Amino acid sequence: MTATRELLAEPLKLRCGAELPNRLVKSALSEQLGDRRNAPTRELAELYRTWARGGAGALITGNVMVDPAALGEPRNVAATPDPAGYRPWARSVEGTGTRLWVQLNHPGRQSPRYLSREPVAPSAVPFGNRGIRTAFAAPRALTGEEIEAIVERFAVAARTFVEAGFTGVQIHGAHGYLVSQFLSPLTNLRTDDWGGDAVRRRRFLLEVVRRVRAAVGDDVPVAVKLNSADFQRGGFTEEESLEVVRELGETGLDLLEVSGGTYEKAAMMGSGRASSQAREAYFLDYAAKARSVSDVALMVTGGFATPGGMTEALRSGALDVIGLGRPLIVDPDLPGRLLAGEDARAERRCPKTGVRLADSLLEIQWHTRQMHRIAAGKPVDRRGALPTLVQAGLTDGLNAFRRVRG
Ligand SMILES: Cc1cc2nc3c(=O)[nH]c(=O)nc-3n(C[C@H](O)[C@H](O)[C@H](O)COP(=O)(O)O)c2cc1C
Repeated sequence: MTATRELLAEPLKLRCGAELPNRLVKSALSEQLGDRRNAPTRELAELYRTWARGGAGALITGNVMVDPAALGEPRNVAATPDPAGYRPWARSVEGTGTRLWVQLNHPGRQSPRYLSREPVAPSAVPFGNRGIRTAFAAPRALTGEEIEAIVERFAVAARTFVEAGFTGVQIHGAHGYLVSQFLSPLTNLRTDDWGGDAVRRRRFLLEVVRRVRAAVGDDVPVAVKLNSADFQRGGFTEEESLEVVRELGETGLDLLEVSGGTYEKAAMMGSGRASSQAREAYFLDYAAKARSVSDVALMVTGGFATPGGMTEALRSGALDVIGLGRPLIVDPDLPGRLLAGEDARAERRCPKTGVRLADSLLEIQWHTRQMHRIAAGKPVDRRGALPTLVQAGLTDGLNAFRRVRG
């Protein structure tokens, strides 16, 4: 049987002709390391320098917003049409062989109240969950013209980042952000060309992919991160998701990353039904089904922890690439250690309170804090849950205050 090391170290040729040097890819992790004008900071490049030395085949950036007026989190990087400001970030992987792909996103209604008083979405549907509704204002429906303009923003941002030296583009079509909102019958109630049935609900994503491809040319990898399902009653189902995969395959997509869930059901982080499987990776069964409807290369992210789990998944033939998120925050050198044949397992160090809502907040806040520490050359923090939550509350409060003041 092929050794773990050889399976993980095997290069992967993508449809566009580009190659990934190995099968371990860092999935997108929102760093919140933009400056007050939402441009990348020196610390952000420093974080990527550390990850690039860690040996992953590719690093997918945290979500970069295509519209500076629509942010998902404070201190997101937001795209402007000038590539010069992104070059230092692009150069962070120089000399390592690691590829650097930008993830592009629009939050739609998932933009907190202190960042958007009136966010936009396919339809004016607020969050159903009362707790979440206090943090997010009700959205207004986009006009047809505004939708076209957002599609164009994805294309312009993709071209800008490629000109700056990024070697691939991923469109964030998962986790309840704008693309997801278009795909879901719960949040897309339109009856024009962008909604009304499953075919029209997926038109936005397919248009973005086509326009991004046209903007970057045939030689640059274009990828999509897609939900296997929203895990919400009446939401985006697995059947619809598989139809999207089939059509994405026909657009000449290079890589499809599989995830799942939204802010209301955080399946991507391992909460809920999707993670109740015994296996360590949350979305493997879905990947096997996606394989049967398309020959697009597949990456699965969520829950990978051991060399055995990773090789078993690769050997099963259900996927081509292992996506790693939180484990690379705790140990940025993990890919290199796995590729060297070490029996290294992903450590989950984030403290827990036992209260579900507090714990999902902690997962994000604690890992974001660790990224800021890596960026500043500091080791993983050993503080417990309470100080982390208190600090998160203070930081969010301060960000909200700053924003309100302009
Ligand atoms: C702090 C944090 C930020 C994240 N930001 C993003 C993001 O910007 N885009 C995205 O697609 N997923 C994002 N994710 C989800 C991860 O890419 C990944 O899907 C999830 O962490 C599950 O993988 P893991 O079990 O290997 O961590 C984020 C996760 C965390 C913990």
